[in-house]
Amino acid sequence: MSPHPAAEPLIIVNGRVIDPASGHDGVADVAVEDGRVGAIGAKLDRSPAARVLDAEGCLVVPGLIDPHVHLREPGQTHKEDIASGTAAAVSGGFTTVCCMPNTSPAIDTPDMVRMITARARETAVCRVFVVSAGTQARKGERPAEIGLCANAGAVGISDDGDVIESAGVMKAVLAETARAGLAFMQHAQDPTLTRGAAMHAGTVSAKLGLGGWPREAEEIIVERDVRLNRSIGCRYHVQHVSSAGTVEILRRARAEGQPVSGEASPHHLLLAHEACDGYDTLAKMNPPLREQADADVLREGVADGTITILATDHAPHTAEEKSAPFADAPFGIIGLESALALYAEALVHTGAIDWPRLIELMTLESAKLCGLDARAGLGALTVGGPADVTVIDPDLTWTLTESELAGKSTNTPFLGRQLRGRAIAAIVAGSVRMERERAFARA
Ligand code: DOR
Ligand code: ZN
Repeated sequence: MSPHPAAEPLIIVNGRVIDPASGHDGVADVAVEDGRVGAIGAKLDRSPAARVLDAEGCLVVPGLIDPHVHLREPGQTHKEDIASGTAAAVSGGFTTVCCMPNTSPAIDTPDMVRMITARARETAVCRVFVVSAGTQARKGERPAEIGLCANAGAVGISDDGDVIESAGVMKAVLAETARAGLAFMQHAQDPTLTRGAAMHAGTVSAKLGLGGWPREAEEIIVERDVRLNRSIGCRYHVQHVSSAGTVEILRRARAEGQPVSGEASPHHLLLAHEACDGYDTLAKMNPPLREQADADVLREGVADGTITILATDHAPHTAEEKSAPFADAPFGIIGLESALALYAEALVHTGAIDWPRLIELMTLESAKLCGLDARAGLGALTVGGPADVTVIDPDLTWTLTESELAGKSTNTPFLGRQLRGRAIAAIVAGSVRMERERAFARA
């Protein structure tokens, strides 16, 4: 995080304070001092506070944590950089993001981990933790220096953007990741089934004449990995689950007690392959949008606790890049600014889960995946713990337009969508990094 002026003492009053870690859920005030939570309770003394935020009708929760974003630094800063990506993060209510290593060059050495961490300290407006590569240069051939990267501060291991195709290499990477005490995050895609594929294999790909990407490309990698991992016991996480079959595999593995988890993204919960109709490259992502039945099973997976991680896979690309023909356009959509409202739409407004559970998934669960609870006390609102706080107006209605986007890129199929629910303040280590609508008042 950049050196911000010393945070003034502040107090957030009258909000519904939800802290899934302690089970607290009720109207209370939260006092913040010296970057830490000073007190949580009813009718706290306001006099030490320089600023008061009236959070009546709002949720006051631990700072949201996104364990899967692409900040594009180094090498692709025309799409995004650490400053712009973290600006998008706080705009969406996130106070911590974990960035993926598919940069140019890849984040695959301890020096690279330290370089990104140092760069974030200078330019980021929220906390940034680094996920480093599983294999050297993300080529899938030789394991990277996983233990050394962990020592340098990496909080997870992933070749995201690509799978580790070789079972032999995967086995070695799982073993080293387990030794380092981190989670391995798999981008599950058998490339021999997706050559030339641009979207889900189904009626829409047939109609558009585009190469089809079958569900099995994801499912067989997850099956393989779960089986490989039985004798290793690494924490194994499947990124951006798209297929109903994957949810089933994860459900079974979790029932057997295996340390596996799965992640849903807003787009896989809310959209289906029809969104690609008209060759709309904004709906092109990896893995692809599937069918409504898959989205339904994903939502059920979140509701029954099979899917425990929500992540945006914020993947910025320029308008020029996305203006290429569908088959050639890059995969990916941005997500940080809209994720909270879209999760509310997919999960809370449908009754699949309630707000406290959504908050748990977006804070405590992602903190645990990356060890940020133990490492930094993140994902909870604890007296004496870091004052990372997000204030959410669950009923604020707004429209996602380009002018609402704080990052460098605008590639999202949700532009123009009416949304309900929005972060109105994001506080990182006691410092207000984003505030909107009802601004803080002076005491
Ligand atoms: O759609 C995607 N975009 N999926 C990925 O796995 C990578 C990402 C990117 O880096 O653009
Ligand atoms: Zn990915």
